[in-house]
Parts: sequence; structure tokens; C-alpha cells
Amino acid sequence: MTVNPPVERGVAIWFTGLSGAGKSTLAEALAPRLRARGKRVEVLDGDAVRTHLSKGLGFSREDRDINVRRIGYVAQLLARNGVFVITAAISPYREARRWCRESIRDFVEVFVDTPLAVCAARDVKGLYKRAEAGEIAQFTGVSDPYEAPEDPELRLATEGLSVAEAVDLVEQRLVALGYLP
Ligand code: ADX
Repeated sequence: MTVNPPVERGVAIWFTGLSGAGKSTLAEALAPRLRARGKRVEVLDGDAVRTHLSKGLGFSREDRDINVRRIGYVAQLLARNGVFVITAAISPYREARRWCRESIRDFVEVFVDTPLAVCAARDVKGLYKRAEAGEIAQFTGVSDPYEAPEDPELRLATEGLSVAEAVDLVEQRLVALGYLP
């Protein structure tokens, strides 16, 4: 019988929040911080995943759930091999997030709590404007639900926080949870 050598504990750091809340920005800022601490890091970003792993999926509840569970599945493979995997998808439905939490032993849910009005005012990709004009159906927060986490490991009220400050809070939480020294 061959036995895999023991690996260092990995973890999935699961950012969830509205489009434009800052999930990708925080993921990209957190990754080098963790690498500087000697961790192996992968980022699974919603937009990148939808270009590769989930190409062809839309934004119905069913398609979003498939997308989120795929991310969860890959995150689980990585985390169990010692990787610090950071995910950045809206992941709007509690049930799909719960499925991910249950399949990934080490799961840290970070609610990027940026109010809808702020995301819509920033409108980095110009999508809120189009959604409000009725040009994009089922747009999260406008014409589709976002089920906020009830008991996340961390809630980031991003208003008034810089990216660096927000990432500090994530690092502190990872220390408190025992994932970082
Ligand atoms: S999820 O709901 O399946 O988790 P995901 O994070 O992968 O969503 O993709 C969201 C991104 O797709 C948004 O940031 C936005 O750029 C784009 N997008 C296009 N259509 C929609 C829509 N109807 N609702 C939300 N985001 C959309």
C-alpha cells in the first residue's frame, strides 16, 4: 500500500459578495501576502473560471450553482494538498456555499460586504447601468438575489477600508483560526 506523505494544511478562503464588491481585488492583494509567508497559493476568480472551467454557463440559479460547486470541487482538491486557495465568485446562494463548506474541511468564508449602492455607483464594468436599463437579465442585486452569509468567518465592511487594511483583517483572521502563525 502506498501512502501519500503528510502535507501541510491548506485552506479555502472563500470570498463572496456582489459584483464589484472588491472580491477579485482583495484576492489579488491577499495572494502575494500569503506567498511572502511561504504558502503555495492559487486564486480561482469568477471571471477566469467562467472563461475556462465554466465556459458556456449563464446566470440562472442552476448555472450559478454548477459554477460555484465546480469552484468548490477544485478548491477542495487544492486545499487538501496544502494550497491556500482563494476564491472570488459572487456565489450568491447559501445552499451552494454550504455545499462547498461541507466538502472542504478547511473553509474560511469572507463576506465582502460592500453595499449595493456603492457597487452600482462604482460600476467598474458598466454592468449595473445595463442591468438597471433591463439589458442584462438576472443581474445579482438588481434582478436576482444575493443571499448574504449569516455566519461567515469574517465580514469585511469595505466602506472606509483600504485594500491593504481589508487584507490585514483577512490575515489576522487566518492567524486567529490557526492557518497562519
Ligand atoms: S456566480 O453567481 O456564478 O458566482 P461569478 O462570480 O462567476 O457569478 O460571475 C460574476 C461576474 O459575471 C460579474 O462580476 C459580472 O462581471 C458578470 N456578470 C454577467 N452577467 C451577470 C449577472 N446576470 N449577474 C451577475 N454577474 C454577471
